[in-house]
Amino acid sequence: MTANGRDTVLETENLAISFGSRELWSGVSVTVKSGQMAALTGPSGSGKSTLLNCIGILERPGTGAIRFDGRELTGMGPGAARRFRRDALGYLFQNYALVENATIAQNLGVALRARGRRGGDARRATAEALERVGLRGRERDRVNSLSGGEQQRVALARLLVKEPSIVLADEPTGALDRGNSEVVVKLLREMADAGACVVIATHDDWVRDQCDEVVAVDDYTG
Ligand SMILES: Nc1ncnc2c1ncn2[C@@H]1O[C@H](COP(=O)(O)OP(=O)(O)O)[C@@H](O)[C@H]1O
Ligand SMILES: [Mg+2]
Repeated sequence: MTANGRDTVLETENLAISFGSRELWSGVSVTVKSGQMAALTGPSGSGKSTLLNCIGILERPGTGAIRFDGRELTGMGPGAARRFRRDALGYLFQNYALVENATIAQNLGVALRARGRRGGDARRATAEALERVGLRGRERDRVNSLSGGEQQRVALARLLVKEPSIVLADEPTGALDRGNSEVVVKLLREMADAGACVVIATHDDWVRDQCDEVVAVDDYTG
């Protein structure tokens, strides 16, 4: 269920993609309901990141359709795709994708301003998100002074304040120890419980086992 109480579905229908004459995968039909976490598994090079990037409208599949909440993402022009990414999508990367020379609060501020939240409201939202990821009171710390696990928590806090309808996580625990991996999965689960469709590309068997459904991308490779 979304925040407005409706069930939403993210689905891909018969997707295929080729690079040159090489078909990477084909026939990919995946359904992720709001409230669910889906794992994309498969060996390195099987096309997990490429599939995530297609769902995130960063790449276009050769054939097939991707729909979310009745809207077709595959046919969007650049402006609509940009707005959809800004308003509905949250990306979590293995390398965190933070502004390293800025503070934690400044990193969250970008996402908050995109939602029209400023001043005291933004400060409260920042404090609440940092509390949830276990970084209470760390607003002024610079990202480049943090450990990898802490940086991934900042990236999660940035997602929490963005409140995306779709969360795409690419190997989010790839560089983390078990304790930090558990924090990441717990927070992704909380975002699903709040109504997001969560898709996680992972080669971590423990992460896969925490998901509601598993899509083995290598089943679709040529
Ligand atoms: N833009 C591109 N042009 C050519 N080949 C690409 C492109 N994007 C991905 N590939 C190839 O597709 C394959 C799958 O990559 P990727 O989606 O990163 O796999 P995974 O995330 O499962 O490791 C790789 O062989 C990669 O080189
Ligand atoms: Mg990958």
